[in-house]
Amino acid sequence: MAPTATAPSPLDRKIPTRRISLAQTVGELPHTFIGPDEVLLSHVIATFSAVIPDGEEYFVRTVRHFRDQITDPELKRDVAGFIGQEAVHGREHRELNDALDAIGYPTKKIEQLTDKGLRFRERVMSAHANLACTAALEHFTATFGSTILRDTEARESLGPLADFWAWHALEECEHKAVAFDVFRATGGTEKTRKRMMNFICATFIGGMSMQVLLGLLRDREFYSRAAIRKSIKVFRDSPFFTKALWRDLRDYNRDDFHPNDHQTDDLVAEWRETYFGEHGRLNEFLAGAS
Ligand SMILES: [Fe+2]
Ligand SMILES: [Fe+2]
Repeated sequence: MAPTATAPSPLDRKIPTRRISLAQTVGELPHTFIGPDEVLLSHVIATFSAVIPDGEEYFVRTVRHFRDQITDPELKRDVAGFIGQEAVHGREHRELNDALDAIGYPTKKIEQLTDKGLRFRERVMSAHANLACTAALEHFTATFGSTILRDTEARESLGPLADFWAWHALEECEHKAVAFDVFRATGGTEKTRKRMMNFICATFIGGMSMQVLLGLLRDREFYSRAAIRKSIKVFRDSPFFTKALWRDLRDYNRDDFHPNDHQTDDLVAEWRETYFGEHGRLNEFLAGAS
């Protein structure tokens, strides 16, 4: 008798949509949720989370705009996977942002500002320029994401949110080339790609810094010399703010750069197994996949 073929699981796809609920597992967080001396880093992480839901909805809109122009069936599948993953990230970060807002971070306010700013950008810039912004920001998320997956110290520095961010980091690495490939496949130029990365470096880093500063000014825990000194030391020594990471970010402006030039296949394979393999640590939080 011929062996029965088993249908491949949707979880085995290159970019699977994992319907996971992780934010609800975070539980009650102390105000300085990253660690007792890490007021500044807690604000940076909270601000990062705050921009994600509306930021990723923007990513999806900018890619979806070109969906009908994509002819390559593999890229079409990748786009579907990208949209599915970003939708789950947005939902989970919105729930995390509710919890962070409840302990004194202005995450809900930042969500509103992010949405307004990005919708304005869509009105005044071309569709290709917006897609180039998405491709540039996806390089940011993949670069920070691969640091989280590769560096134990980086993961541990995220305290009780380590698995939450590492799951997101894994999926950012899985879909890191999608917006870039859509940009190229639909005629985006190298000039626009690089120009928008420079624009993002100024606006994203500038905007984030401003929001972190405003959050700190409202935070009484930051109002002591010792807290400021300790926070700045933790921040300066953080694996997320190194010259090597900055070099990886800026490599994007090299001629003929492609996201896959930065190898993350081994990391992706390792963390897929750790979180979603046969004995995966996060399987119990999955509702399914598609
Ligand atoms: Fe994401
Ligand atoms: Fe992404």
